[in-house]
Amino acid sequence: MERELSLEFVRVTEAAALASGRLMGRGDKEAADQAAVDAMRSVFDTVHINGTVVIGEGEMDEAPMLYIGEQVGNGSDPSVDVAVDPLEGTNLVAKGLPNALAVVAIALRGCFLHAPDIYMDKIAVGPRARGCIDLDATVTENLKAVALALKRDVQDLTAIILDRPRHQKIIDETRRAGARVKLISDGDVSAAIATSIDNTGVDILLGIGGAPEGVIAAAALKILGGEMQGRLIPEDDEDLGRIQNMGLKEADKLLVLDDLVKGDDIFFAATGITDGDMLSGVRYRGETAETHSLVMRGITGTIRNIYATHTLERKPRFVSESANCRQEPRIKD
Ligand code: FBP
Repeated sequence: MERELSLEFVRVTEAAALASGRLMGRGDKEAADQAAVDAMRSVFDTVHINGTVVIGEGEMDEAPMLYIGEQVGNGSDPSVDVAVDPLEGTNLVAKGLPNALAVVAIALRGCFLHAPDIYMDKIAVGPRARGCIDLDATVTENLKAVALALKRDVQDLTAIILDRPRHQKIIDETRRAGARVKLISDGDVSAAIATSIDNTGVDILLGIGGAPEGVIAAAALKILGGEMQGRLIPEDDEDLGRIQNMGLKEADKLLVLDDLVKGDDIFFAATGITDGDMLSGVRYRGETAETHSLVMRGITGTIRNIYATHTLERKPRFVSESANCRQEPRIKD
């Protein structure tokens, strides 16, 4: 894929962030998600790709836009697979909490795992600990291996884990091993990426989150030189059927980075919606708004931070109906 596409993909995530960021803290995660989806979908039409959504908002009958199988882009070459999460961390935006992102990852056709919307057990680390983790090893063994690779004691490591009852055992084991624990309420895409970015203070991601989010995070980690492993967790026969329909033969296969994302002709772009460890959230300043994005290209490994100022009146579609906050106040002075 041509390097010029980087900027195109950032425009897509910026649009989603600008639209949903308006709804920060309003307690309405559906509206925030809808605003992100609408804006992302409309900008995708202008991008020079022949894209098929493989990780999206759901199956065709569940999602009117950005559904799995939907064609996006203006139809010109290259033919690519598109993984989207217009609003990663719907609760984070609804509550005004950190680390909500608008995200896309793009790969050549057939290069993303077509993960169904089920859970995935995950482990992720940054470049210096690549090659030392094993999802089938115990938490303690993994922490010791990462500590050795980073030339530190286990007590100097920080593990990031979604704060869920299902994780109590791994939280307890991480604490017993002596590592520091950072519990997050949502957002394991940004948590996984944080392992591979300096100064986030995060060394390892552990635990179960969404499988689509796992594939998206894997795209970023591949470019950043980190490592991730995953295993799908079907909960019933229906989930097993969905895994088979998506072309996966062994539902319980240990998925390494190359199973999640093949090759390195990939792009990853994310724009901060709320302030976070890596990206600032959207700032609205009346006529303008500012965004902070990250765009990465797999072939060269280039990582760009892009700070943009948007003149909002010239970008009306970035503020969809559902995100329109300039309503008349109900009580007038
Ligand atoms: P949404 O943006 O769809 O709300 O997902 C947020 C998230 O925290 C993901 O980052 C994570 O993979 C998943 O939800 C975890 O799922 P659950 O909330 O069911 O534990």
